[in-house]
Amino acid sequence: MPVIRFVREQRDVECFPGENLREVALREGIELYGLKGRLGNCGGCGQCITCFVEVVEEVEGGAANALSEQTSVERLKLKRRPQAWRLACQALVQKSVMVLTRPQVGLSDREGDLARARAQPLPQGPTDWPAAPPAAGDAEVKAGEDAETDPGLENGAPTFPSATSDEGGVLPADGR
Ligand code: FES
Repeated sequence: MPVIRFVREQRDVECFPGENLREVALREGIELYGLKGRLGNCGGCGQCITCFVEVVEEVEGGAANALSEQTSVERLKLKRRPQAWRLACQALVQKSVMVLTRPQVGLSDREGDLARARAQPLPQGPTDWPAAPPAAGDAEVKAGEDAETDPGLENGAPTFPSATSDEGGVLPADGR
C-alpha cells in the first residue's frame, strides 16, 4: 500500500490507493489544521482552504501522479499559493508521497527535518486493494433466517446487547 510520510509528525502511514489524504490524516490523528481550521472547517468540501499540505517529495518514478490531479476547486483556491501546496481534502493518494502538514507554519529546522525524512527511502508499496473479506451479506441473510425461528428474539428484536436499533433485528451469524 502507498505510504504517506508526514514530515512534521515524523510518521509513516499506510493507506489504500485512492484514499483521501484528509481522511487518512484525520483517522491517524494527524493535525491538518491551524487554529482557523480547528475552529471551523468545511469538512472536506474544498471551501475553507485550511487543509493545506505541501508535497515535499513523491516516490521516484511517480513524481507526476503520487496524488490525484489538482481539482478545479484547488486550481481556483490555490492560485496564489506555492505550486507544491495541495488541499488535503481534494487529494487522493495514488502512490507513496512525503508531505508537510500546515506548511504555512514554519518548521524550526526545515532543512534538517527534510533531510532526515529523505534519508529513508519511501516504499512505493503494493497498490492493489486487499482481497475482499468473506461476504458479510451472506452472514446477515443467514442470521435473518435464524431471527425468524430463534425463540430468543421477541418480535424480531435482538436480545444481544451489542446490537443497535438500526440493524433491524438482524444479527450476524457469528453474534458480533
Ligand atoms: S477541509 Fe476545507 S478546504 Fe479542505
